[in-house]
Amino acid sequence: MSGEYFTNRHVEIARIRTAMLTPSSLLVYGLRRMGKSSAIVIAGERARAARPKPIVVSADLSTATSLFDVATRLLRSLYQETRFLRLRFEDVLGGLAPRVTLKFDTQGNPPAITFGIDRRTATDEERRRAFEDVIERLVHLRSRTKRPVAVVLDEFQAINAIGGEGAEWHLRDAMQRHGDLSFICAGSQQSLIEEMIGPTRAFYKAFNMLHMGPLEDAHFASWIDERLRLALRVEGDVGGEIVRVAGPRTQDVVQVARQLFFRGLALDRPVEPADVADALDDVVRNEEPLIRSIWNRLAANQQDVLRVVALGATQLFSAEVRDRYGLPAASSVHKAVEALVAHGLLLRDERGIAFDSPFVERWARR
Ligand SMILES: Nc1ncnc2c1ncn2[C@@H]1O[C@H](COP(=O)(O)OP(=O)(O)OP(=O)(O)O)[C@@H](O)[C@H]1O
Ligand SMILES: [Mg+2]
Repeated sequence: MSGEYFTNRHVEIARIRTAMLTPSSLLVYGLRRMGKSSAIVIAGERARAARPKPIVVSADLSTATSLFDVATRLLRSLYQETRFLRLRFEDVLGGLAPRVTLKFDTQGNPPAITFGIDRRTATDEERRRAFEDVIERLVHLRSRTKRPVAVVLDEFQAINAIGGEGAEWHLRDAMQRHGDLSFICAGSQQSLIEEMIGPTRAFYKAFNMLHMGPLEDAHFASWIDERLRLALRVEGDVGGEIVRVAGPRTQDVVQVARQLFFRGLALDRPVEPADVADALDDVVRNEEPLIRSIWNRLAANQQDVLRVVALGATQLFSAEVRDRYGLPAASSVHKAVEALVAHGLLLRDERGIAFDSPFVERWARR
């Protein structure tokens, strides 16, 4: 992902790197698949070249079910991060032991980490305490080693699903109390993030904000052409066409470009813009089992709404559109749209209601 497989984002990466090296709270936000997590990973690699070398620990909140899981993930990451310090991990953990035990295996894998409490039966208070303990250890580690310490929390909006607003306030509190750490959070679902930083909520004014928007089209297009040309002959504005059909999310564009690359290897002529549609269809075909299983779990109303949006209708609530496409009453359509937005299949943008994924859109249009 780093180096030649990654383009641009110089400004964003520099800002994240700086935030890792100087105590601060930064929220990297933007639509899904724009490149937030990768920019943070690269910023971390670059930050580690600074002296004194910082300690950057991270946890992905999306699959955590409590702050306890977050604490365990941070510890596991800390173990990896501090190996270069050649300290005994027990010393790194200091006051946490003996509440934390490490089980090493013989293959040299990272140890299994267990707190002195049971993950399943611990009270909310104990789980929070575990999280708090880890943060306090990090503060201690910072003052002891004089190194910058950065905590990366990816899929940060999931904190709400983990423990509701209570967990949000708890995390905010920890961030404020330990102002000499850096907190780098990243989050996707724009509407959730906006709520969480709203005036009555925990993270109001708690962060510097870094928006991760689309890569600049012309630059992205020529970067793709350049990479295709390493192994293929390219005729016409192929990169531009890929960005046009698969954009604006970075990952979608890269996925179609990769597919076109493999397609091109089997052709005995140059690739051209007209080949892009086939590459897009290849991707849709590859994703079909996944899309179908999501589709099958939707209510009939929701499937109808997706079909109609795929056909290009935007005014879903108007009587005329509902009549033309046989959609139910406006209130049912409204409910279906809400569910699909919450599900991440649709989103609201300047144009109205749109698909999150160009691949799902194309599939639903067949
Ligand atoms: N600047 C870039 N240059 C080339 N490829 C990129 C770039 N940024 C992202 N990508 C590609 O897009 C993929 C998705 O990026 P990433 O996982 O960082 O997005 P994200 O914003 O964190 O998405 P999500 O919201 O789903 O977590 C990467 O695996 C990589 O293939
Ligand atoms: Mg991500």
